Amino acid sequence: MNRAYWKEAVVYQIYPRSFKDSNGDGIGDLKGITSKLDYLKELGVDVVWLSPVYKSPNDDNGYDISDYYDIMDEFGTLADWEELLEGLHSRGIKLMMDLVVNHSSDEHAWFVESRKSKDNPYRDYYIWRKGGPDGSPPNNWGSFFSGSAWQYDEATDEYYLHLFSKKQPDLNWENPQVRSSIYEMMKFWLDKGVDGFRMDVINVISKAEGLPSNGTEKFGDGSPYFMNGPRVHEFLHEMNREVLSKYPVMTVGETPGATVEEAKKYTAEDREELQMLFQFEHMDIDSGVGGKWDVANWTLPKLRQVLDKWQHGLAEQGWNSLYLNNHDQPRMVSRFGDDGQYRVQSAKMLATLLHTLKGTPYIYQGEEIGMTNVRFESLDDYRDIEIHNMYREKVTEGGEDHDTILQAIYTKGRDNARTPMQWSSEPNGGFTTGTPWIKVNPNHKEINVEQAMQDPDSIFHYYKKLLSLRKENLIMAYGEYTPILPEHEDLYAYTRTLGDEQWLVLLNFFGREIKLELPEELQIAGKSLIIGNYPEEGASTEVLRPYEARVYRMRG
Ligand code: NOJ
Repeated sequence: MNRAYWKEAVVYQIYPRSFKDSNGDGIGDLKGITSKLDYLKELGVDVVWLSPVYKSPNDDNGYDISDYYDIMDEFGTLADWEELLEGLHSRGIKLMMDLVVNHSSDEHAWFVESRKSKDNPYRDYYIWRKGGPDGSPPNNWGSFFSGSAWQYDEATDEYYLHLFSKKQPDLNWENPQVRSSIYEMMKFWLDKGVDGFRMDVINVISKAEGLPSNGTEKFGDGSPYFMNGPRVHEFLHEMNREVLSKYPVMTVGETPGATVEEAKKYTAEDREELQMLFQFEHMDIDSGVGGKWDVANWTLPKLRQVLDKWQHGLAEQGWNSLYLNNHDQPRMVSRFGDDGQYRVQSAKMLATLLHTLKGTPYIYQGEEIGMTNVRFESLDDYRDIEIHNMYREKVTEGGEDHDTILQAIYTKGRDNARTPMQWSSEPNGGFTTGTPWIKVNPNHKEINVEQAMQDPDSIFHYYKKLLSLRKENLIMAYGEYTPILPEHEDLYAYTRTLGDEQWLVLLNFFGREIKLELPEELQIAGKSLIIGNYPEEGASTEVLRPYEARVYRMRG
């Protein structure tokens, strides 16, 4: 067992735009975050991952960076950021920044130069190609945000590649100068005291030579030519050698489309690349053949099969990160639990899963009070570029049914996670005194931090307990994971074992009772309950109540 603080830590993700507004402009900011640090301390988190706060025209809420060395106007100043860092560090909390280097903003000085002329010194910082003879884009790759991944630029009569919005041109990692510019920028932040990076779509930085089309569709899936591309491991190893190895950092790569085999390459300690990944396989179990917006039913066997695969796959080599939601995903209690009658029980049950699997758990802001998805009646209330582009492509231009697509937005849209943090029952949930940039979920009157902190049985207090248990029990980070009853449709059960110690985790994933039929050697009668989401009295050794979660000490 190779101990490391980042394996024992719990990370809390802040989406700054929606966390806390300090100046009444309706947009969350750094001073707002600083004002809530005691709350994070009380919860007991070890690390904060801050979604991007750099200068940005906000085509994609900060994931389009126009200056990597400065802070977004709406969020404050570099001095505010220093104050935040100091506030975190003085409370013993580390800071992980978002590193968005697959692409920049088209308003970044590099791109402004690059597009000027073919012989500009920055031309090769981005990926430019001539169009086809008929003026079509250089290949058929589709963008993650709908339409072609190429944008024509009149100034030089060429196209540039953008896997995301057309205001997010892809940087050309083949160019050594691009790489050294990025490494230099990373050192700037590390020298200021940053403790780590979450690396945005880091497994798409290397594109296959020749940028071949895939199939004949108008907007094809180019991912075989850029996901886990030919030089990605070489680039990350170089980044590690040049930058990461020189600092005591924590790293997590966001890697859509990464398989277990790839993940081992990214995270095996002796390969010196990254520490852990955000893999996406469990986020895809409710997508049909048509992809994300083709909403399908998920089942527990499907979820368990994916999680088992990752738990086993990275058991000896590499490390898992554990998450069920973030700023790109719907709220976990709405997606995998029940955001109605059993909201509190199911949120606690899912939290039990996240904190008792092997890996490093990530909490997304508001998860700890059980914030839910939102349903805006009008499309105009949505802010996300992905939603608007998709709607235009599918409904306005494609003629698909408005109601069906709206339902898909309710289920999968990223704005579900981006409604403001609900601090109190006051107007706008206490997030702002002004008009919020996106509407607050109307359920803030019942679901909010103030209420959660007062109620000893709240989801918040349950998280607090899980986090403090982790500090006292190494088994939570390092124990071996063994699933039991692997065919069960409703019950997710497993043991964790470390030396002589063994815990048993029982999770009822649905709103119906489960009759327990545990193997002989795992009988729970007389065993001590470490944590559970129902009052202990009334607990039966034979039945699990709706969404009930229990963790028993079996040995040690
Ligand atoms: C992943 C980020 O998490 C998401 O919010 C963003 O839109 C894309 N990468 C592009 O940066």
